[in-house]
Amino acid sequence: MKPVNVGLLGLGTVGGGTVNVLQRNAHEITRRAGRGIRVSCAAARDLNRPRHCNTEGIRLSVDPYSVVDDPEVQIVVELIGGVELARELILRAIANGRHVVTANKALIALHGNELFAAARERGVMVAFEAAVAGGIPIIKAVREGLAGNRIEWLAGIINGTCNYVLTAMRDEGREFDEVLADAQRLGYAEADPAFDVDGIDAAHKLTILASIAFGIPLQFERLHVEGIRHIARTDVVYAEELGYRIKHLGFARTTTQGIELRVHPTLIPYRRLIANVDGVMNAILVKGDAVGPTLYYGAGAGAEPTASAVVADLVDVVRALTSDPENRVPHLAFQPDALADTPILPMEAVETAYYLRLQALDRPGVLADVTRILGERGISIEAMVQKEPVEGQDDVPVILLTQRVREGQMNDAIQHIERLDSVTAPVTRIRVEGLGR
Ligand code: NDP
Ligand code: HSE
Repeated sequence: MKPVNVGLLGLGTVGGGTVNVLQRNAHEITRRAGRGIRVSCAAARDLNRPRHCNTEGIRLSVDPYSVVDDPEVQIVVELIGGVELARELILRAIANGRHVVTANKALIALHGNELFAAARERGVMVAFEAAVAGGIPIIKAVREGLAGNRIEWLAGIINGTCNYVLTAMRDEGREFDEVLADAQRLGYAEADPAFDVDGIDAAHKLTILASIAFGIPLQFERLHVEGIRHIARTDVVYAEELGYRIKHLGFARTTTQGIELRVHPTLIPYRRLIANVDGVMNAILVKGDAVGPTLYYGAGAGAEPTASAVVADLVDVVRALTSDPENRVPHLAFQPDALADTPILPMEAVETAYYLRLQALDRPGVLADVTRILGERGISIEAMVQKEPVEGQDDVPVILLTQRVREGQMNDAIQHIERLDSVTAPVTRIRVEGLGR
């Protein structure tokens, strides 16, 4: 049988990795897919740029529309990133009756509902395994492997760049900017690394995971999002002293009131496996009512790990080329007319424990004021540590761990603590999750 022709949009980190994996593993891939898969044409911005892959036999162009309009192409792989152009190209590919594979989490999180509707209408597939957690087959695991479960919650280290930065700050005592530059050089970071360190990339991925876990439409705008810029090395050190690791975590949970969707730095007890996921590695802990907790671990970014997921999608699409569109796995795991409108909880209603770091004057009565403010709001303290003052400073760091409380109450308490004359800087707040049950 003739090989399937793929049109590739983008020959950068992931595009180059995809060409390499398809070429190197051609024999195994053909045995699995039942047909060969070859990149027949590809688009990039600058054709003179040196590539990390062999482009011999691939027709190259600077015009991405020439790829999606090529009559020989059966599957379009979108790896240029960004949102607007990628959306236009994919909609055009779908209108042309082409199947699509993409690694673009921003696009799926923001426009997936529209793209999937267009794809259903045209009877084609839009596959996006590489959009979440790079090489970890988490979409397939949740969408298919856990299909018998009611998913209770999931928690994931889903941004490799943030995990790389936090790990290097902890293990090597290095500064944030320097480590981020490394992550960029290694091809982990987004074109604009603010997407990584401000939590937006993880929020895109959590949007997608929550939809396939809970059967709700993609709702990126409803997430609570925080990045890691405000995490100081001292927080990393103090957390360790208390028996915790700080991880940038995406967290989604069903409650009787609605669904929690939040992305923020989180203290996790270091005895949990997920607390020991370091560097660029990703991991997602998924709790199903039947299976219990399950953990998925692997490289969350980089050329070939991400290409691994892109090529797996290509194999799935090739296998499905001849199958009836009505009988394919639904994009968001649940049948489109069975998606639920469960409310997403506002952050003020979310309940969690907290790590607080205050800078306070070292004088009598200060800690009593702080504990009074917390006590008046029913916030119990789990641990409190006053650190040594830094030489030349007359204020000292005070670290508190609290029990679980609603975010709204904690916001109120923090406002009052910050108004105390003896508190000299804004309070640093990091949420704490046990991830045990
Ligand atoms: P890169 O920036 O490395 O590559 C982008 C490619 O797209 C380049 O080859 C670029 O051309 C090409 N391109 C950009 N704009 C155009 C255009 N207008 N016309 C033609 N070609 C264009 O990005 P990545 O490979 O890192 O990321 C690609 C996608 O994969 C993104 O959506 C990203 O979020 C996602 N992703 C990335 C991961 C990673 O580890 N890097 C992991 C998981 C997902 P040129 O080379 O000439 O500039
Ligand atoms: N910039 C992303 C990360 C790439 O660091 O996780 C993988 O999606």
